[in-house]
Amino acid sequence: MEICVVGTGYVGLSCGVCFAKLGNRVTCVDIDENKIEMLKQGEVPIYEPEVKELLDMHSGKNLFFTTGLVEPVKKSNVVFIAVGTPSSEDGSVNLEYVKAAAADIGKAIDGYKVIVNKSTVPVGTGEIVESIISKHYKGEFDIVSNPEFLREGTAVSDFLKPDRIVIGCSSKRAMNIMKRLYSTIKAPILFTDIKSAELIKYASNAFLATKISFINEIANLCDIVGGNINSVADGMGLDKRIGREFLNAGIGFGGSCFPKDVKALISIARENGFDFRILRAVESVNSEQHLRAVEKLQDLVGPVNGKKIALLGLAFKPNTDDTREAPSIRIIEQLISMGAVVSVYDPKAMGAVQAIFENKLQFAENAYKCASGSDALMLITEWEEFKKLDLRKIRNVINKPNIIDGRNIYSRERLEMMGFNYRGVGR
Ligand SMILES: NC(=O)c1ccc[n+]([C@@H]2O[C@H](COP(=O)([O-])OP(=O)(O)OC[C@H]3O[C@@H](n4cnc5c(N)ncnc54)[C@H](O)[C@@H]3O)[C@@H](O)[C@H]2O)c1
Repeated sequence: MEICVVGTGYVGLSCGVCFAKLGNRVTCVDIDENKIEMLKQGEVPIYEPEVKELLDMHSGKNLFFTTGLVEPVKKSNVVFIAVGTPSSEDGSVNLEYVKAAAADIGKAIDGYKVIVNKSTVPVGTGEIVESIISKHYKGEFDIVSNPEFLREGTAVSDFLKPDRIVIGCSSKRAMNIMKRLYSTIKAPILFTDIKSAELIKYASNAFLATKISFINEIANLCDIVGGNINSVADGMGLDKRIGREFLNAGIGFGGSCFPKDVKALISIARENGFDFRILRAVESVNSEQHLRAVEKLQDLVGPVNGKKIALLGLAFKPNTDDTREAPSIRIIEQLISMGAVVSVYDPKAMGAVQAIFENKLQFAENAYKCASGSDALMLITEWEEFKKLDLRKIRNVINKPNIIDGRNIYSRERLEMMGFNYRGVGR
């Protein structure tokens, strides 16, 4: 099939290379000229495993990149909208990029197309996109909602082996095209109306965020009354109705999706006269959770003013360079405001943080240099390389052996035997 993907970010690019791998002819469009130039040169502007390999395999053969939307839209059967849908100041969804993409598509099309919303959008956006396109194009087209569930860090494998594919549409013709497009992927396909598809995405992310805030509250209780959160989570997770995934206590969720999608669902509810109380609590628990790590730090080192604090991990989770809404950012801001000297290291996400904090931080070449001479080490992101650290070496280079393990990746017993003062989350 001939496909056009509008928006070549984490989602658009991952989907684009995967649709090419599935044998389609794909053109990825973006308004960001630098991004498109890099991709044309075979460089991937983000860190996402497996994308580079697929790009090398398909670029110039059945995968193309351009800033010009008209030609690729004209020749495509299916046009995906995969542009960003960030939060506005008041938590509502900023649809400006979706609307602009819809207008550009409307001006370009000259025959039947399926226009697919892959961006995460509020209920009713399908109708908005339809009306924008109709202003410019009077012929036949169909709107589909096909939310994306891939996770950064495992985007390619998630796309190719999803738990489910959700397709919201009201036209048999569009349904058959979408069925054909996904025919080689082995996953249940749920066909539904557009509004339900739009809601499924928000409901799924909000539920996962709720699971994280819930286990974090149980961990906070463990910190007070005793008990080990890992055992509690294991015991809960063995219940098939609950499941063990997303029951890892830590310093809270971040990233470009959960915080924004929770905010969006609260806002969508509010606009419709409904108070989504559970999600308001999820949000406030999460916000406090980021800063609990700093409270634990103060318990260990006292006032942090003038002390050197080493942060391992800046990305909001491992295997990505994405730092949008990452807990690291809030923790760094807090530490700087309290007068700490902050040194940081992340295997992939230093660039974005450097752009925010510039010379206010010390950027280390590796974990050991980061920890060297510091009064405490805070583990923020559970990258595999941090799980394999030589902790004896850390013990030798650190000034004061204090560790805040924000992701519960180390053994408390082992660290204490080595002379560290250890604080995890709920154990
Ligand atoms: N990142 C994730 O893990 C993830 C997962 C599932 C769903 N989503 C959703 O997918 C959507 C995209 O997210 P992302 O993380 O890929 O965003 P992103 O910010 O990485 O990428 C968006 C891209 O769209 C481009 N763009 C904006 N307006 C455009 C236009 N008019 N024409 C062409 N390109 C345009 C931007 O330049 C940017 O490159 C969002 O709605 C998000 O909520 C994201």
